[in-house]
Amino acid sequence: MGPGDLSDILEALPLAKDPNLLVGVEAADDAGVYKLSEKLAIIQTVDFFTPVVDDPHLFGQIAAANALSDIYAMGGKPLTAMNIVCFPTEKFDKSVLKEILAGGVVKLREADCLLIGGHTVDDLELKYGLAVTGTVHPKKITTRSGARAGDRLILTKPIGTGVISTAVKAGLARSEDSEGASNSMAQLNRTACEALEGFGVKCVTDITGFGLIGHASEIAVSSNVAIVLNTSSIPLLSGAFENAKMGLLPAGADRNRQFYSCRVIEEKRISAEMLDLLYDPQTSGGLLICVSAKKADDLLDRLQDRRVSAASIIGEVRQSPQRKVIITE
Ligand code: CO
Ligand code: CO
Repeated sequence: MGPGDLSDILEALPLAKDPNLLVGVEAADDAGVYKLSEKLAIIQTVDFFTPVVDDPHLFGQIAAANALSDIYAMGGKPLTAMNIVCFPTEKFDKSVLKEILAGGVVKLREADCLLIGGHTVDDLELKYGLAVTGTVHPKKITTRSGARAGDRLILTKPIGTGVISTAVKAGLARSEDSEGASNSMAQLNRTACEALEGFGVKCVTDITGFGLIGHASEIAVSSNVAIVLNTSSIPLLSGAFENAKMGLLPAGADRNRQFYSCRVIEEKRISAEMLDLLYDPQTSGGLLICVSAKKADDLLDRLQDRRVSAASIIGEVRQSPQRKVIITE
């Protein structure tokens, strides 16, 4: 479903109010947050999807890393998780499911998150993901609304997973490119999240289905600012540009463009391939972090020291009531 359709539906829901609900449906943030005490809040999130790679164990890892990511985007620590499985028993042997779930457990262990249950239904199409619960101090939640003019933007993973997955499905991807994309998607955002400790960061989101432009735009609107993206410093997965040039774009890229292009200003002329990559929906993408200008280089150093090696400063936050995404070189 496109980004616009969903917000129309959610706006129409007659939701109850609760003073302990810190981040709810209206905020359209990465996950919901509910305060239990002055020192403790729980974060809840759910994500599941159809396979993005052929290898079931790897798919399990990617789906789990993706589901855990919204906890990290909100500055939290994952605690427990439940599997969500739609499985075509006619089509696949149950050993496939065993591999997927084992892949998920590998990432849950890496996140120190406990699997405590799950639910499986028969379906025509395979889908897997998790509902994850995490904890956070109520004053340390990072949301989309905390960006301030002058902040620098740091992105922690390269973009292009959508075009590379499309190339893989078409049988046109180089094996090293698909491997690079898979490794990136399976990587947890845990290290990047933990590296933020002490930097006073208020605004973080993770880059997933709406693409880099879409998620940048969500920050611009929620924080009442403009987001400037310098395309020459945006890290790209190996092969992403070439595959975009061949026109190997997932359907979601077009939906993102239809919805977000009216919120984008091209300050410089940007190549068609680069624009395609900015709209490319990501699976288990990196964190997009807004950090004060004077701390940005130190944070970048810390991320790189901790082997978040693709981390790059890709732009900045500007004062602007128009709340646009400004693309430059
Ligand atoms: Co998210
Ligand atoms: Co999500």
